[in-house]
This record gives sequence, structure tokens and C-alpha cells, in this order.
Amino acid sequence: MHLFASFLQWLHDTSFSEYIRDSTYGEPVIESVHVLTLTLFLGFAVLLDLRLLGLVMRRKRASEVLAQFNPYLAGGFTIMVISGVLLFCGDPVNFYSTIFFKVKMIMLVLAGVNVLIFNTTIGRKVSEWDLSPNTPRGAKIAGIVSLVLWAAIVAAGRAIAYALPPP
Ligand code: HEM
Repeated sequence: MHLFASFLQWLHDTSFSEYIRDSTYGEPVIESVHVLTLTLFLGFAVLLDLRLLGLVMRRKRASEVLAQFNPYLAGGFTIMVISGVLLFCGDPVNFYSTIFFKVKMIMLVLAGVNVLIFNTTIGRKVSEWDLSPNTPRGAKIAGIVSLVLWAAIVAAGRAIAYALPPP
């Protein structure tokens, strides 16, 4: 058996995984946290992307929007990852067997790369385009890539449940 597959089977057989899977409140509470935090995280992410596109909050300095939103984005993302990993631990073999879970993880990495590129290029020079009515092309590209990736991540996340093997 492939090493990773035997790890997932080992994880599945732990009492921790069993508790999430079989307890009355385990999975529903974690899933609720995953979905509720999504509204916070995605709300701020979409608003920020629309600011990068120069479509909203145009009279507000882009650096101010970034500074105000970043704590919520970082906090929301951290809770999404923790609740997501806990969800995954509840049924690792089945979740990993779905193409949607794998695609979602790849897109999460791409969304991270997009943020990294933004922060190390155009984001670093935000004071140069802080209040300009037309945001630079690099900011627009970062905004569009982010919007497309988060929409696809949400769709893949939702599709996971439909691709699970029958119990
Ligand atoms: C910010 C990052 C994330 C976003 C935006 C996100 C979004 C979503 C969405 C929208 C769903 C569907 C919820 C529903 O309607 O039932 C979902 C489900 C799920 N997510 Fe995430 N997720 C994120 C991170 C993660 C991570 C890091 C993992 C695991 C490593 C993960 C594991 C799962 C699993 C296993 C499900 C399926 C739950 C089920 O159907 O029972 N997620 N996610």
C-alpha cells in the first residue's frame, strides 16, 4: 500500500477520527465553523479584490484597505485551514479519494502564490498608486486571479460531498 495511503488509513482508524465521524456534534460543529468563517473570510477577500480592480472604495487609500482587512483575512484563513484539516481528519480516505478535494488543495496553493507575488511586487509599491483612480495592471491581475480562484475553491469544496463514495 502506498505510504500516504497507509497514513490516511491509519488516521481513519484513530479514535480521534472516529469521534469526528461518529459523534453527534463533532462533524456538524466543525462544518458550521468552516462555512461560517467562509462568509467572513470571503467577504473581506472579495471586497479587497474589488478595491484592487478599482471598482469599490476608490476614495479610500489602497494601503488603508489592506491594513484594515489583513488581520481579518489572516484570522479567517487560519480558522478555515484548522476547521478544514479537522473535517478532513473525520474521513481522510474518502475525502482524499475525490478529485474535488485534490483540485481544491492545488487551488489553495495557487491562491497563496498569487498573494505572495502581489506582496513582493505591486503590493510593495502601494504608496505609489494609493489613491490613483486607475489601479495598476499588476493589482488588477492579482484581483481577478484571486476572485477566480476563490470562486473555484468554494465550488470544489461544495462538490466534495457529492463525489464521496456511498457509505
Ligand atoms: C480558505 C480556505 C478554504 C475555503 C474557502 C474552503 C471552502 C469550503 C467550502 C465552501 C466547502 C463546502 C461546505 C459545504 O457547503 O458543505 C468546504 C468543504 C470542505 N473543506 Fe474546505 N475550504 C478551505 C480550506 C480547507 C482546507 C485547508 C481543508 C483541508 C485540508 C478543507 C477541507 C474541506 C473538506 C474535507 C470539506 C468537505 C466537507 C463535507 O462535505 O463534509 N478545506 N470547504
